Amino acid sequence: MAVQLITQDYTAVTADWLIVGVFGEEPFSAAVSDLDEALGGQLARMRESEDLTGKLAETVALYDAPNIAPHRVLMLGLGKSDELDLATLNKAVMTAARQVSTKETPTVAIGLPGTENSGFSPADQWEAAVTALIVGCVGQGIYQNEPQRFSFDNITVVIAPQDDEEAIGAALQRGEAIADAINITRDLVNQPAQDIYPESFAAEAEELAAEYGMTCEIFDEDRLRQEKMESLLGVARGSERAPRMVILEHRGAGDDSPTLYLCGKGVTFDSGGLSLKPSAGMLDMKMDMAGAATVLGAMTAIARLKLPLNVVAMMGLVENMVSGLSYKLGDVLTARNGTTIEVHNTDAEGRLVLADVLSYAADHNADYIIDLATLTGACMVALGQDVVGAFSNDQTWCDAVVTAARDRGELVWQLPTYDLYADLLKSEVADVKNIGGKWGGAITAAKFLEKFVGDCKWVHLDIAGPAFAEKSQPHQEGGATGVMVRTLVEVAGRLT
Ligand code: BES
Ligand code: MN
Ligand code: ZN
Repeated sequence: MAVQLITQDYTAVTADWLIVGVFGEEPFSAAVSDLDEALGGQLARMRESEDLTGKLAETVALYDAPNIAPHRVLMLGLGKSDELDLATLNKAVMTAARQVSTKETPTVAIGLPGTENSGFSPADQWEAAVTALIVGCVGQGIYQNEPQRFSFDNITVVIAPQDDEEAIGAALQRGEAIADAINITRDLVNQPAQDIYPESFAAEAEELAAEYGMTCEIFDEDRLRQEKMESLLGVARGSERAPRMVILEHRGAGDDSPTLYLCGKGVTFDSGGLSLKPSAGMLDMKMDMAGAATVLGAMTAIARLKLPLNVVAMMGLVENMVSGLSYKLGDVLTARNGTTIEVHNTDAEGRLVLADVLSYAADHNADYIIDLATLTGACMVALGQDVVGAFSNDQTWCDAVVTAARDRGELVWQLPTYDLYADLLKSEVADVKNIGGKWGGAITAAKFLEKFVGDCKWVHLDIAGPAFAEKSQPHQEGGATGVMVRTLVEVAGRLT
């Protein structure tokens, strides 16, 4: 993908598609008025007839217009300028990207109005727009013989003469790095368990580490046993596919700088184990490694952008399956930190994997930890399918993560972590049991994880809903979304 910027009249831009953003309920910008003039007043007439209202994510296509250079123009509604934020901008540009990528479209250009009334800078606007274009032209039909979606070769950003070229140029590079990272995450999550299992995931991570200049260490079963990660190993026991833990390191700063740990749940398939899921609930469980894939994707962007901080990524990779060797209800697992766990439900496996990963991070001088996991259906009951749940033992750190998400247009909401929820995890046999019962399931899961993070500043992000879209919508392809990659890169950038 090549991304470049130009200062030019819309009428002179050569592209297969030119996407032009317009606000609703306000006059056309000077650039759009010039385009309108070249089109003989067509845009003004369409506005008059309410065919071009400019409401959010409205699209109006103009084909083969005479007197202008672009082959086709897609007018894109952005809603009211003072209501536009990066989340709604993303929605609009994703809608446009999805519309113009249904057949081969080598070159796409995009022009957007000024950001004076909106709560973000032109650089932020362009970063988000480029990210949305590159993410929006990639689909989940990775096994189709007839492709349904086509990536752009070339993106041209049409800026205004008064814009700061240098700042926008840098933003385009960030936007591209983040988009590629999101697509890496999505591709891993969209691949089924026959192709992505702990060993093959680890191999992908190793390749990406080499490509982006990160160190990579892979723990096999023996090493995991040496590390006493018997909680993770317990989950893995029922599968023919051996578990792995991958540790990637990006060293962008000196030894005395703080280290951020990103920990991901990587259950490459979650059958539920002996507490077997019903068939309908199992269908999408190839996505249960989205936490690990998000961490891996974000690391590629962090490394590519050479962010000046130290980041360690840990991915706990297992398959949760049924066999004669499966861990069983009533089994007691001894986690890496010595905590004994009575298994009451083998489908609450993600927390057992993360327990050992988090304890490893806590023992290796993590200053800040974020873990990501498709951990609970209960989080979707609480917040719906589109909002990430946040849980923390440190309010300042949690605020930093939630604010970064909001500033990048991703939806995160904090849930409480009162100690009364931890009482629900008491076991009569072991130190703790792995489920809390009927109520507050997203929170009891978080309280379980908290037992393994020591004194570290920690935020847990439950991405069970937003990581994977049930069906396609105009602004979003079904399947993996790459949610939280933007946020992780932003959080890392702000720690420097
Ligand atoms: N991977 C699931 C959570 C999940 C469910 C993610 C639906 C995405 C969509 C997790 O391992 C799980 O099975 N959780 C159980 C926990 C329960 C047994 C306490 C759940 O949410 O039902
Ligand atoms: Mn499960
Ligand atoms: Zn799971």
